[in-house]
Amino acid sequence: MPKIKFMPSGIEVQAREGEALLDIALANDVSIQHACGGFCACTTCHCEILEGEANLLPPDEDELERLGVLDARTPHSRLACQSKVKGDVVVRVVNPE
Ligand code: FES
Repeated sequence: MPKIKFMPSGIEVQAREGEALLDIALANDVSIQHACGGFCACTTCHCEILEGEANLLPPDEDELERLGVLDARTPHSRLACQSKVKGDVVVRVVNPE
């Protein structure tokens, strides 16, 4: 099972393969904004992947388009609602609630 560590809280949890980072966070009381409810429409669930980027399924066109308009993006930015895990990841929540 993939292990996911959320920063800055340091909360570390196990997840099922194919689960989205946002769903994992919300199921484990990790504070993260998600204004559109996980529909790739708001970018408030912005996360920076600190370790294990290859352990996420790659972004689709919709996510890339959203990330493209995000001022605070880094080369390791992903949207938590669109990022499905397949292995261990360490992720920084950019916008806690
Ligand atoms: S929750 Fe809105 S884009 Fe992810």
